[in-house]
Amino acid sequence: MLKGVNAKIAGTGSFAPSKILTNYDLEKMVDTSDEWIVSRSGIRERRIAENGTCSSDLSLEASRIALEEAGLEPDQLDLIIVGTVTPDYLLPSTACILQDKLKAKNAAVMDVAAACSGFLYGLSIASAFIAVGQHKNVLVIGVETLSKITNWDDRNTCVLFGDGAGAAVVSATTEDRGILGTYLSGDGSLANLLHIPVGGGKVPLTKENFDLRQHYISMQGNEVFKSAVRAMESSAKRIINQVGLSSEEVDLLIPHQANIRIIEALAKRLKVPMDKVYVNIDRYGNTSAASVPIALDEARKTGVIKEGSNTVLVAFGAGFTWGSAVIKW
Ligand code: ACO
Repeated sequence: MLKGVNAKIAGTGSFAPSKILTNYDLEKMVDTSDEWIVSRSGIRERRIAENGTCSSDLSLEASRIALEEAGLEPDQLDLIIVGTVTPDYLLPSTACILQDKLKAKNAAVMDVAAACSGFLYGLSIASAFIAVGQHKNVLVIGVETLSKITNWDDRNTCVLFGDGAGAAVVSATTEDRGILGTYLSGDGSLANLLHIPVGGGKVPLTKENFDLRQHYISMQGNEVFKSAVRAMESSAKRIINQVGLSSEEVDLLIPHQANIRIIEALAKRLKVPMDKVYVNIDRYGNTSAASVPIALDEARKTGVIKEGSNTVLVAFGAGFTWGSAVIKW
């Protein structure tokens, strides 16, 4: 560890495609209703990327905003981490594609596949690399084009997901603030509750399983729901304790936006009132790795996050994976 070196958020940005898909649009596609979707999930609309627009395109827009706010040129970045489960290609990583689009020619590049926890995993890796002195300016992205891996005939999943990107420039600082701590964990034994059954090395894509639409997200929603509440509660409590805060000292909680009922159950268990919880699920749905950084950027840009305040980030996703962080501004 470098003595006196912390990692701070120097800039954030977010971007979502302009095309809006409302619950009323979905009523015309599958057997569902606006009333069911809003009451069960809190979602009213989501953004959908046009054909040909991929995760690196959304990342590029969010990254430019974050870099401008940080006052950095792309060639000052020394690491790019992209959290995504919807990469442009299986090979190479989306971070490589983004590096080229940004002309960030001095950056090392990697993707992190931790589903909805992807941004938290990236943030944790970035702050650890900064703490040991290996990197100074790290671009961390959470991005998804989930619309491309969604079965639009499956009402159990297609009403939940959306597309978007969020970015944060994480920089070394000697100031006594920034990312106070991060925590990561996971449980691979529950992988089959939320997965894409075919298209990987175990069950390659064939015409038969393609026709059965097994190359799309499959989820046992109510089981995922219970695990999400439990894991995010323990993860948030752990990091709050680790950095020495009480729940009253949490000024803002930014949870993964998967379901308003999960968010409300989490807030109750953490004893954090809902007016200290950032919620935008009604406008974006579940954007997986992008959900926390989009909310973080919105909370900063709208003045919800104030100088000197404490923000807790917490996420849970397929894998299962989960993680949390505390940031002092
Ligand atoms: N419209 C109308 N009815 C529906 C719909 C729909 N879109 N979807 C399901 N239903 C029906 C079901 O068929 C079921 O009917 P039945 O009782 O006749 O069998 C009924 O509604 C209840 O279904 P449940 O699945 O029990 O509903 P639940 O209250 O659990 O809500 C939901 C479902 C919204 C999916 C919820 O379980 C959830 O949010 N789960 C967590 C998702 C999550 O957190 N994912 C995290 C990570 S995502 C990632 O990593 C990419």
